[in-house]
Amino acid sequence: MRGRDILLGLAIALAVAGGLGESVFTSGGPPASADADAHDVKAGEALYLRYCAVCHGDAGRGDGSSAAGFATKPADLTDGRLMNALPDEFLLSIILRGGPAEGLTAGMPPFADFLSEHQTRQLIRYVRAVASPPFRPQMAKPLVTPPNAPRQPILFSHVVHAGSFQIACQYCHADARRSEYAGLPSVERCMGCHKIIGAQDNPEIAKLHDYARRGQPIPWIRVFKVPEFTVFPHKPHVRVEIACQTCHGPIERMRVVGADTGPKLGDDLVRFLGFRPPARALTMGWCVDCHRERNATRGDHAPLDCVTCHH
Ligand code: HEC
Ligand code: HEC
Ligand code: HEC
Ligand code: HEC
Ligand code: HEC
Ligand code: HEC
Repeated sequence: MRGRDILLGLAIALAVAGGLGESVFTSGGPPASADADAHDVKAGEALYLRYCAVCHGDAGRGDGSSAAGFATKPADLTDGRLMNALPDEFLLSIILRGGPAEGLTAGMPPFADFLSEHQTRQLIRYVRAVASPPFRPQMAKPLVTPPNAPRQPILFSHVVHAGSFQIACQYCHADARRSEYAGLPSVERCMGCHKIIGAQDNPEIAKLHDYARRGQPIPWIRVFKVPEFTVFPHKPHVRVEIACQTCHGPIERMRVVGADTGPKLGDDLVRFLGFRPPARALTMGWCVDCHRERNATRGDHAPLDCVTCHH
């Protein structure tokens, strides 16, 4: 028992020392005082000028003295349209572990040997302060790390594409509004942008070019799937404007998509004992609960008969 207490104390001490405690206790609490905030921004600016300005430029616009040497240019850190949606954890990861940690190029080096997590958070405060349009904390919702995220053949990040660059879901999943399937983008669709973007120095995008050259589709691993004997059509659901996220979760905040779906034995046992746990996503109960609810509250005509969902 004592041993466990000591371990727990140690874990808390480490978490606090590492700044985890800080974020846990400050987020949602009263805002830090304006003085402390100004101090962080100032400290962040000094670190920025020392470590980042050579590449990202004195004002953060991506035009430092070394910038010309990179095929993929240092990011314009003042561009709020791209930066504001990126959560602190994403920036922290890139700054401490380098671009490849999030699928970006090694042109962005790791700074874990030079910066503590506390200093990195001060840097992030500074970067937030120079964003235009201005940054507001509610713009960057935290990353979501869903369970059962497979290792995909290419590190493709929805945080970058749908979060930061705000490419519309249906630009890539273009079949959703007209067919049963949402569809995954073809290699050609990816290449429409990546013939140029990242083509010279991003190893993840080099893999994409390899598939294109060989004329092969990318073997993405499926995450959301109902059994063969069940029909799920996207089209009617998209037509009544149910957001993709209602069924799939906040995809734009997932660096790798994953989900905990389908029937679970434990739930069946709990139900057998007379309880009613909320239906798990992609189970029959989940489909039917929403259909009943929508028919009752919005006058929809979602099917409840067996054959429409099973044939
Ligand atoms: C040696 C040059 C270099 C230095 C030094 C450097 N960066 Fe970068 N940084 C880059 C490049 C190049 C990219 C673009 C990577 C890509 O898009 O593949 C980048 C990208 C980034 C991004 C990602 C932005 C986005 O839109 O996803 C952030 C954040 C960032 N840098 C912050 C910093 C900070 C903070 C520092 C200082 C601690 C720093 N960088 C130092 C070259 C550098
Ligand atoms: C509408 C344009 C567009 C399309 C379509 C597109 N991308 Fe991107 N992609 C971008 C931009 C912009 C970046 C950011 C580049 C940077 O900052 O270095 C990016 C970054 C990436 C990266 C590195 C960051 C990450 O996500 O890990 C990979 C890998 C990537 N794309 C793969 C793909 C694949 C695979 C497809 C097709 C399924 C695709 N992209 C479709 C615009 C696009
Ligand atoms: C640039 C293209 C692109 C954009 C934009 C994009 N996606 Fe994706 N999406 C992909 C690719 C490629 C995959 C397959 C790899 C993976 O699972 O990450 C995927 C996978 C998925 C999956 C999992 C599919 C499965 O295997 O079951 C869902 C759900 C999804 N996307 C929803 C969305 C939503 C919602 C949005 C908008 C918020 C969105 N996507 C925006 C390219 C894109
Ligand atoms: C009402 C719930 C629901 C909504 C809304 C929904 N999906 Fe799906 N989605 C599912 C289910 C269920 C599956 C599994 C279907 C299967 O196995 O045939 C799925 C599968 C997928 C897949 C896997 C590949 C494919 O072709 O089906 C992608 C990608 C996807 N959805 C993206 C989207 C996008 C993008 C949107 C919004 C435009 C969206 N979904 C809206 C429930 C939904
Ligand atoms: C709104 C769509 C929908 C309707 C209506 C529906 N089902 Fe299902 N059903 C599903 C889905 C999705 C699954 C697969 C997931 C699961 O097993 O929960 C499923 C699974 C099943 C299974 C397999 C269960 C298991 O444990 O493997 C049976 C049997 C079944 N349904 C029978 C029926 C019968 C009988 C009706 C009519 C009273 C019906 N379903 C109506 C969507 C539906
Ligand atoms: C978030 C709510 C929601 C969920 C979850 C949902 N549906 Fe639906 N579904 C609807 C609504 C609303 C409609 C009616 C659309 C209309 O009125 O045209 C519908 C319609 C349908 C239709 C009828 C299509 C047609 O052409 O008439 C089928 C089949 C269907 N859903 C299957 C499923 C299956 C299978 C699942 C689970 C895997 C599911 N739905 C989950 C809301 C939902």
